[in-house]
Amino acid sequence: MTDLDAALAAAGPTGLKERIAAELAAVRERSLAYTDADDDMLVRQHSLLMSPLVWDLAHVGNYEELWVLREVGGIEPLRPEIDHLYDAFKYPRKDRPSLPLLDPAEARKYISGVRGRVLDVLDRVDLTAPDPLRSGGYVFGLVLQHEHQHDETMLATLQLSRRPGLVRDGELPPGRPAADPEVHIPAGVFTMGTDTVAWAYDNERPAHRLYLPGYRIDRHPVTNGAYLEFVEDGGYRDPRWWLPQGWEWVERNGVEAPLFWTRDGDVWWRVRFGREEPVPPEEPVQHVSWYEADAYARWAGKRLPTEAEWEKACGGRTYPWGEADPGHHGRWANLGHRAARPAPAGAFPDGASPYGVEQLIGDVWEWTDSWFQPYPGYRCFPYEEYSKVFFGETHRVLRGGSWATHPSAVRTTFRNWDYPFRRQIFAGFRCARSEE
Ligand code: AVJ
Ligand code: FE
Repeated sequence: MTDLDAALAAAGPTGLKERIAAELAAVRERSLAYTDADDDMLVRQHSLLMSPLVWDLAHVGNYEELWVLREVGGIEPLRPEIDHLYDAFKYPRKDRPSLPLLDPAEARKYISGVRGRVLDVLDRVDLTAPDPLRSGGYVFGLVLQHEHQHDETMLATLQLSRRPGLVRDGELPPGRPAADPEVHIPAGVFTMGTDTVAWAYDNERPAHRLYLPGYRIDRHPVTNGAYLEFVEDGGYRDPRWWLPQGWEWVERNGVEAPLFWTRDGDVWWRVRFGREEPVPPEEPVQHVSWYEADAYARWAGKRLPTEAEWEKACGGRTYPWGEADPGHHGRWANLGHRAARPAPAGAFPDGASPYGVEQLIGDVWEWTDSWFQPYPGYRCFPYEEYSKVFFGETHRVLRGGSWATHPSAVRTTFRNWDYPFRRQIFAGFRCARSEE
């Protein structure tokens, strides 16, 4: 149980409802801020990988309608004729711009109509009911996290659009060099996953005991400066470092550096929300694929950690620093788009895990060596299309959240996943090695 869960239990159902209402308002403010643009910007497809922004906007409202209004509230569909348009499994992203989507004004009207009724359902629902969607407000946790996930997706779309805006110059703490760049994690059993975090997804459950041999893991995520050594050493031209599929991907796409990087003479530049700037060496590298992370690790004489190794390094708590909710004050981690960038390596000594591993939460999603697979004893809840349909040897697991991830949408047990060739997400990595 986190401090937050304990506080909620003490506050009782009324306190929980107030907190949910406040979080719903905050996430909607975020979605509306990212879609505060002219219609062309919202209906255009900025990348074949992504939906038009107006699709994400109406989709979060439609999801909220399906789960809160229909499933829990027993309310009839508001606009049954649009459901198929916002079903993520009906049409691929690249086809979405040609669908008869709600236009931006209609989309805003639709989602605010849904939201008004959601607040009515919240008022009358019994959050102590044994039904798992109602109990502890689970269904609200589901829609809140879903909207924040789509907000992060919208940020990735906006970054791909290369249009200016959305750089936020929030203060980040300075970096600190690590006296010892690797942390030793002793052999032994630890508990992976959770049975107790109130709004955890099905894929984080059940908690299970797992033995791991001893290993070393990087104290900080790999920085741009370190990654640049791999680039300058000809890492992208040497098949020795790459898995066969990774090498094929490099050659087919002519990849030479992380996405959004360009070389000008001796200097590497990157573009960040339309702003060009020199690549900052002390910041964790981002916009690399799993193939690039894996190749770098091999070049460095290391490997990627498994997701079990990543989670064990967190020390068995809801957050590496303990049970306290990260909130927005930024003492422990860089989350929630306070600044539109990862913080320099070493910026969060107070956020270290009991083992001394830092920046596990926030800054950049971290690729792990693991395929996205169910834990032993996995039970699908409440629907197969969140996790179950993605299990298998197709997607690699990412952990820890990025600077763009909202504090309520990440914890040490949270699992994200993507194809190994994807680079538009705010993803980097750290390395590990087995004990000799
Ligand atoms: C958990 C981020 C992989 O955005 O594709 C959104 C979450 N599921 N809508 C995604 C999700 C349904 C998912 N990830
Ligand atoms: Fe979705």
